[in-house]
Amino acid sequence: MNTYATVVLAAGKGTRMRSTLPKVLHPLVGVPLLAHVLNAIEAISSTLALASFPETIRSYRPIVVLEHEAALVETIFGERCLYAIQEEQLGTGHALLAAHSAVDKLEPQPQIVLVCYGDTPLVRSEMLARVLVEHLTQQATVTFLTTYAHLPSDYGRVIRNADGRVQAIVEVKRATEEQQRIDEVNSGVYCFNRGWLWTALQSLPRNPSGEYYLTDLVGIAAAQGCAIATVTGTLDEAIGINDRVQLAAAAQLMRRRVLEQLMYAGVTIIDPDTTYIDAGVSIGPDTVILPGSMITGKTRIGSSCRIGPDTTIDHSTLGDGCIIRNSVLEEATLEDDVSYLGDATVGEHVNVGAGTITCNYDGKRKNHTDIGDGAFIGSDTMLVAPVKVGAYAQTGAGSVVIKDVPSGALVVGVPARVLPTPQAAGDGSAKDGSEKE
Ligand code: UD1
Ligand code: CA
Repeated sequence: MNTYATVVLAAGKGTRMRSTLPKVLHPLVGVPLLAHVLNAIEAISSTLALASFPETIRSYRPIVVLEHEAALVETIFGERCLYAIQEEQLGTGHALLAAHSAVDKLEPQPQIVLVCYGDTPLVRSEMLARVLVEHLTQQATVTFLTTYAHLPSDYGRVIRNADGRVQAIVEVKRATEEQQRIDEVNSGVYCFNRGWLWTALQSLPRNPSGEYYLTDLVGIAAAQGCAIATVTGTLDEAIGINDRVQLAAAAQLMRRRVLEQLMYAGVTIIDPDTTYIDAGVSIGPDTVILPGSMITGKTRIGSSCRIGPDTTIDHSTLGDGCIIRNSVLEEATLEDDVSYLGDATVGEHVNVGAGTITCNYDGKRKNHTDIGDGAFIGSDTMLVAPVKVGAYAQTGAGSVVIKDVPSGALVVGVPARVLPTPQAAGDGSAKDGSEKE
C-alpha cells in the first residue's frame, strides 16, 4: 500500500495583500482561498488518475502550516485539518520543516509527502493526483508540477540540462537574464519521499535574503543524482495569489468554472460576463439567469426559475418556478411559483408565499416594493407598488395590498385591511387570552 501525507503551506505574512485578514482567508467566489486548496486535496482519492492506478493509495487529514497569529484559520477549518505552526516566516523550505513532527506522528508513517501552497486555489484534484501517480510510477525522489508562463513572470524557473533532465528551480530574484527567459516554471505542487525529505530540508542553505527556499530542494536532489520527475499542467492551475490584482485574475477564472459547472448541470446563463455566482450556490435545471445577476452565499434556487436581469440574491432559498426581476433578496425564503417579484427589496428572514406578485407597473412607470425583515407574505398576495411591508408584518393569503403595511401588522382581504393582532394591539389583548386567528 502507498501512503502520502499532505502539507499545505499557509504561514506566509501575505504582505503584498496589504490586509489584516490572513491571505488564505481572502474569499474567492465566496470561499476562502485555503478552502479551495483543501477541496482539491480531499477530492484526490476520487480522481480518474487515482482510479486507474493499480495499487491502493492512502492519505491522511491534510496538515496546514500557519503562522502563530492565524488562530482564526484554525477556528474556521477546525477538525478538517491538522495544524503546524511556523514561528518565524523564513521561507517555504522552513515552513515545510515546521510540519516535520506532525507528519512523523501520522500512523502508519507515510512514504510520500505531497506539498502545496495555500495561495494557489485553482489547482485541481486531478492535477494533484497526476503528480502523485507520476511520483509513484517513476519511483522518483522528487516530483513537481510545472507549467509554461507568459514572460515576464515571477514564478520560479525550471532549469534543465541538454538532455532535458531537471537541474534546479531558480527563483526569479536570483535568476540570470538567460534563466529569466525560460518559460517553464514551477507551479508549487511537489511530492517528496519522506525518507529523503527531512535530511535534505535540514541541509537547505539560507539564501542572501535570509530565507530557506523549498525550491532549492530540487537542486539538492539533482546534485545527489536522485530521480526527479515533472508533470506539466495548465497555467491557470498554477496561479498563485500574492496580491489583489492576482486575486481578481483568479476570481475571473474561478467564476467561469462555477458558471460552467452550472451550465453543464442544466442552468441557462445568458451572459456569463455579467453574472456572478458563488461556489456554494445550487441552482436547479431549466432555471434561466439573466444579465447583471449576483447570487451569493448559501443560496438555493429551484428549477425552472427566471432570475434577473439586475438581481442580487444572498443567502436565500427559492422554490421552483419563481420569477424575480430587478430585485434584492437577503436571507429570504420564496416558496414555489412566486409568480413575479420585480423591482423589490426583500429583507432578511422574509417568507414569500407561492403565487405572490409584485404589481410593479402602473401603465406609466415601474414602482418599487419594499418588504421588511421577518415579514410573512401569504400565498397569492398581490403587492401593488409602490408599497412597503413593514418588518415582521404579515399578509393573509390572497390579499391585495394597496397601502403600506405597518411593522408587525396583519393585513387581509381585497383591498387588504389591518386586523388586530397580539403584536399590533399591544400586550394587553394577548394577556387576557383573546387572541384571534
Ligand atoms: C513560490 C515558489 C515559486 C513558484 C510559486 C508558485 C518558493 C521559494 N517559490 O513563490 O517557485 O513558482 O510559489 O506559486 O517556494 N509560506 C509559508 N512560510 C513562509 C513563506 C511562505 O508558509 O515563510 C507559504 C505562503 O503562505 C504561500 C506559499 O508558502 O502560501 C508560497 O509562498 P510565496 O511567498 O507566496 O511564494 P512565491 O513567491 O509565490
Ligand atoms: Ca505565492
